[in-house]
Amino acid sequence: MAYKDVREFLSAVEGFDQLKKLNGAAWDLEMGAITELIYHEGKGIPPAVLFDKVPGYPEGFRTLFGATCSVRRMALTLGFPSSIKTEMELIQAYRNKLKTVKTIPPKTVERGPILENVDRGDDVNVLKFPVPKMHELDGGRYIGTACLIITRDPDEGWVNFGAYRVMVHDEQHVAFYISPGKHGNLQRQKFFERNEPCPVVVCVGQDPLLFLASGNEVAYGLSEYDYAGGFKGEAIEVIKGETTGLPFPAHAEIVLEGEALPGDLKEEGPFGEWTGYYASSARPEPVIKVKNVYYRNDPILCCARPGRPPSDYLLSKCVVKSAMIWDEMEKAGIPNVQGVWCHESGGGRMFNIVSIKQAYPGHSRQAGLVASQCHAGAYLGRYVIVVDEDIDPSNTNDVLWAIASRSEPEQSIEIIRRCWSGPLDPRIPVGKKGFNSRAIIDACRPYEWKDAFSPVVESSPELRDATLKKWADKLFS
Ligand SMILES: Cc1cc2nc3c(=O)[nH]c(=O)nc-3n(C[C@H](O)[C@H](O)[C@H](O)COP(=O)(O)O)c2cc1C
Repeated sequence: MAYKDVREFLSAVEGFDQLKKLNGAAWDLEMGAITELIYHEGKGIPPAVLFDKVPGYPEGFRTLFGATCSVRRMALTLGFPSSIKTEMELIQAYRNKLKTVKTIPPKTVERGPILENVDRGDDVNVLKFPVPKMHELDGGRYIGTACLIITRDPDEGWVNFGAYRVMVHDEQHVAFYISPGKHGNLQRQKFFERNEPCPVVVCVGQDPLLFLASGNEVAYGLSEYDYAGGFKGEAIEVIKGETTGLPFPAHAEIVLEGEALPGDLKEEGPFGEWTGYYASSARPEPVIKVKNVYYRNDPILCCARPGRPPSDYLLSKCVVKSAMIWDEMEKAGIPNVQGVWCHESGGGRMFNIVSIKQAYPGHSRQAGLVASQCHAGAYLGRYVIVVDEDIDPSNTNDVLWAIASRSEPEQSIEIIRRCWSGPLDPRIPVGKKGFNSRAIIDACRPYEWKDAFSPVVESSPELRDATLKKWADKLFS
């Protein structure tokens, strides 16, 4: 890997001119609005944004948005060559890596930059960092967005981490929201059912590779540390928390350590969500009493601002999720998958397209059903579109053309009911959240008469090549 922590990562990003440094933006709405403007209105490749000199905070106490949100920055994060130019090439590279990668467990060390400063007990103040309030209707300041919530299974012993949002209640208390079914929720539940405190570590500034592992569905029972170590090709160095013994990255920027007590709930939210809505209103959620705060000198708080797509972490989410779904489809025995794209408009979950080369009757339905229900694709999905191999799943025009011209609504749409959803689903009324339905749209040419399907009106490859050869410099100069 070309970098070992977020600082070296940022130096590399600056080297290829994709880092914007901004001084003087306020934590209260301004950082959020600036990031939204860059990702909605900006031209060209949106940069990573590093905010410094935040009013009311010491110089050097920084926040970072959009670390991984370009093909080049993703390639850097994952240790892939800079010759990768497109999302599909990234997905292929990620998939190839998944085929060969071996998991590597973390290595416990005694020292690391994260120990440069440790605040304990009464000295704890999570608001010593410039924690943003991202959107006007948010219920508070969110310290955990591009984060790792680290817990251990009390029975099975394995360590999980996931990106679950964390809201500040006061200097020493934060709330964490974990959707039903997520691994962190299952582990926390085990502690609460025994009426025991749940030890938790919240890491809010780290190697972006760890955030990719945190925000995507790694298999149950496999620690994200082992998964990320495998990708990095070396063990992630971790330090054991003084109070919980939970491992946190030695090269992290800011780490909160504490525990959540059963029955200790306080109102969390609302928070602008990845679907682009406030679908889950404020409700009581478990509180973490923060006992220790570890941080580097001049710490960097890593942030993600979910909202109406596209947002500052979405591209990386779509790439990793597409690769994971593709991998799980192959493991489930679906042959001839040609591509997968979890569209940004669906927040990387709700509008997923898979392309296949049909090989037998029922192949396209099988592909759609598996894509909609495999672990990486199951949570809060909505539409899965299956297209033929001549359709690029990441090309919206192509996909919509395939739906419009190759599907017949009466025959081509399957509905699956009572699937895994949750409180963030904007289409499910409050009080009924939990389940949703899925539509599999089979936009492939019907298998039994695909060869007799009307020919496509476009130049043959030979005619295109010959025309390009003759005219390219005049047409595209
Ligand atoms: C920026 C970002 C924010 C997220 N926020 C939450 C959240 O607040 N609650 C939640 O349950 N999942 C959230 N997720 C999704 C989980 O991180 C994701 O499903 C992950 O796989 C969960 O880890 P687990 O599989 O170990 O449970 C978020 C993902 C990202 C990328």
